[in-house]
Amino acid sequence: MTTTDPDTFDAGHPVEDRYSPPACGELDEIAAAMADGRLSGGAPILPVYEQALAAWFGTRRAVAVSSGTSALHAALIAAGVRPGDEVILPATAPLPTAMPILTRGATPVIVDIAPGALALDPASVSAKITGRTRAAITLPLWGYPADDHAAADILAAAGIPVIEDACQAHGTKIRGRYAGTIGLAGCFSTHDRKLLSTGEGGFVLTDDGKLADRIDYYTHLGHLKGDVHGTNYKLAAPLAAIGLRRLQRLSSQLRQRQANAARILAALEPDGAVSELGYGPSDAPNYYTLVLTTTSPDTARSLAASLAATGLPPDSLRYGYRPLYHQPLFASYAAPCPAAEILAATTLQFPVHPGLSPASLQWVTDRIASISQGHAGRRQQ
Ligand SMILES: Cc1ncc(COP(=O)(O)O)c(C=O)c1O
Repeated sequence: MTTTDPDTFDAGHPVEDRYSPPACGELDEIAAAMADGRLSGGAPILPVYEQALAAWFGTRRAVAVSSGTSALHAALIAAGVRPGDEVILPATAPLPTAMPILTRGATPVIVDIAPGALALDPASVSAKITGRTRAAITLPLWGYPADDHAAADILAAAGIPVIEDACQAHGTKIRGRYAGTIGLAGCFSTHDRKLLSTGEGGFVLTDDGKLADRIDYYTHLGHLKGDVHGTNYKLAAPLAAIGLRRLQRLSSQLRQRQANAARILAALEPDGAVSELGYGPSDAPNYYTLVLTTTSPDTARSLAASLAATGLPPDSLRYGYRPLYHQPLFASYAAPCPAAEILAATTLQFPVHPGLSPASLQWVTDRIASISQGHAGRRQQ
């Protein structure tokens, strides 16, 4: 069902978690690309799209690629990660953050997050650096700021570059800077669920011109010059056309998501059973999802079950979110990560995208507010 039209809103069905933005001239842009006749990743619209991305985020370079996965894989290679090297990443990472490390033949080294935050835990990072550590990945999960400055200082002192997996974090601000523009390279996805969506697609941002060239060559088969190895991770022209148009609406989408989140948050009881996941005064989530935390895993479990029963399953339940090493593929890299375990067990994620009609948003707000009040009341009795 669609949640964009109040008349079709049906409280018996879950709220759609994927956002389909209204048409904003994408077909005109695709038609222009088709009139040019070149539809491959070598078409003239690609540099136009890349320049628009770099301008929006304020970086020197952007390289458009076929997915967030290829962005991460290419960034790891361009950062000098070789087979057998180690790459640090947080236990909060979902599978798509970690898979490219295996694709490179490198070893994922899972570290904990700082308690109550999404940032890499500095002590955990210090303890895991070895002579084989070649890169670290940071992750503003769910579009919430991961303020990694403490771990970044430790990594910088050891000469280890930081790659940001900003695939969910278009427009997220960390200490006043956009996620994906802080480390050596920022990797983004433009998959259908993301704030900037081209169906499939991605891009890498960086201020390092040489790194951008290496990523560009790697993702374009070495531009067929025959001197460097590469693969075909190019973004096709019609997808770049969609991205170019939709980028113009990214700022207004961010504002709408913030307003929707604020509406739900205003309905929550202060000191109640749930509150928003914390972030710093110069930080801002992009509200890829609204993330609420609870006082205990038991409260989270029972809230999630109550909300699911009313047709509003949190994303954590819908997608079975858990720390990376609980996935069989990464079980052999497990390390104790108590803070990540607590985060996974006490957070609930909800859609606040602009596709929610006023009726849907009210319904979501009422469900969350009344169920969390019910839990708070029961706890006080
Ligand atoms: C955090 C994160 N990293 C990486 C990816 C991979 O992006 P893509 O699906 O475009 O390959 C995703 C997308 O699901 C993601 O959410």
